[in-house]
Amino acid sequence: MSPLFINFAYIFSGALFILGLKMLSSPSTARRGNLFSALGMFVAIVVTLLAQGLDYKWIILGMAIGTGVGVVAAVRVEMTSMPEMVALFNGFGGISSLLLAWAEYHQHPEMSVFIAIVAFLSAFIGGVTFTGSMVAFGKLSGKITQKAVVFKGQHLINAAILVTALGAAALFCMTPASGFGYTLFVIIVLVALGFGVTSTIPIGGADMPVVISLLNSYSGLAACAAGFVISNTILIVAGALVGASGIILTKIMCKAMNRSLSNVLFSGFGTKTAAHSEGDGPQGEIRPATAEDVYYILEAADSVVFVPGYGLAVAQAQHVVKELGDLLEANDTEVSYAIHPVAGRMPGHMNVLLAEANVPYDQLVEMDDINPRMDMVDVCVVIGANDVVNPAALDDESSPIYGMPIIETHRAKTVIVLKRSMNPGFAGIQNALFFAENARMYFGDAKASIQDLVAEFKGD
Ligand code: TAP
Repeated sequence: MSPLFINFAYIFSGALFILGLKMLSSPSTARRGNLFSALGMFVAIVVTLLAQGLDYKWIILGMAIGTGVGVVAAVRVEMTSMPEMVALFNGFGGISSLLLAWAEYHQHPEMSVFIAIVAFLSAFIGGVTFTGSMVAFGKLSGKITQKAVVFKGQHLINAAILVTALGAAALFCMTPASGFGYTLFVIIVLVALGFGVTSTIPIGGADMPVVISLLNSYSGLAACAAGFVISNTILIVAGALVGASGIILTKIMCKAMNRSLSNVLFSGFGTKTAAHSEGDGPQGEIRPATAEDVYYILEAADSVVFVPGYGLAVAQAQHVVKELGDLLEANDTEVSYAIHPVAGRMPGHMNVLLAEANVPYDQLVEMDDINPRMDMVDVCVVIGANDVVNPAALDDESSPIYGMPIIETHRAKTVIVLKRSMNPGFAGIQNALFFAENARMYFGDAKASIQDLVAEFKGD
């Protein structure tokens, strides 16, 4: 196969990756975007294999086993377990890069300084990604403690591990082919595997989605370095795209939570989920509402905006919400669903749930689009959301969520809040919205509460 043809095919694959990534940014094109990227990867794999002139039997066996495991896992995984699955994928990507660098070094120890550097990066970042992802998987699936495991001198130990890795890397890169080079490489691999554990274990389970996004970025960087090790252009391109998109998503998530990456990585904030029952912050008089009260408010509304949060996922209320939305539309009410970027516990959590219930994409509105129109909204129905609608983020400088962008439901004419109690959400703080003059608290499990509303609308 001519090098010109191979490079042309790689450019075609790279274009499909970029197009696919672009299409992933909207729910209406995401499915097609995924297919485009998969097609790009298919072209890249076929061309790479044909160009090598290899003995294919082991490759085909490996691909068959991998495809089998992948198909079964993808079909069986629950939507809510998606972050765990992504963590595993990242981990496998990381270990592949590590093994690739190792195999290349094993076969050709006489490497230039540049190749030795990229081999080190591929093995080190790949190793950290592998064990870090396994810890993230364990925490998210509850197989290991979700708590942030912190102990005295932890940062010092991590710093010492990093210095050891860099020292070993410097020696290795100067003389990779020496007898001592191989020992150094093994030390680098072991240190990387250890560092993945020690750097992820201090982070609380609730912060794992951010960590997984970061590890996703690492897996891309490791693959990019591996691409340099074996001089494979498309691996460099694909790795760079994964590395960049992972870090962009990490940044978006941190910004939407108003936290710095170092705060996520080093503070153990994500352990605060089981906060004290009433939470800190404002208290006051609340106005409880019954299903009948809420029915009359909704029945008279011209526009209703649903604002889902983590409680929607807990209650699995997405299907009844859609049913209620349809009944409201039949009643000539304009219905939309406002999505906060970090509502729930993983990126796109609300989008996934609402898509599962077949809520039309054109009814989804982003935070930045709904806020300017909020004063005109008749009723906001907050379903199991708390922090993402807490006005303290706008006006209380002492609040831990101060500065976090929110969906400004308090500016709607009426707000109905569905939750089971006055317990706080993820950040562990009370919410002034619940005491606002225009707010009514409709207590109960979100699914049961909405079922009661549906029954009211149907006149059951
Ligand atoms: P939260 O602030 O966590 O509030 C969820 C609310 O749902 C709780 O107040 C809870 O109140 C209620 N709830 C739970 N189960 C319910 C049920 N069965 N029926 C009705 N209500 C129920 O959720 P949010 O507003 O979606 O905010 C997300 C938070 O998670 C943010 O602080 C965000 O920074 C953080 N976070 C997000 C991500 C991503 S990527 N999405 C990742 C890590 C952390 P009751 O107990 O009284 O019912």
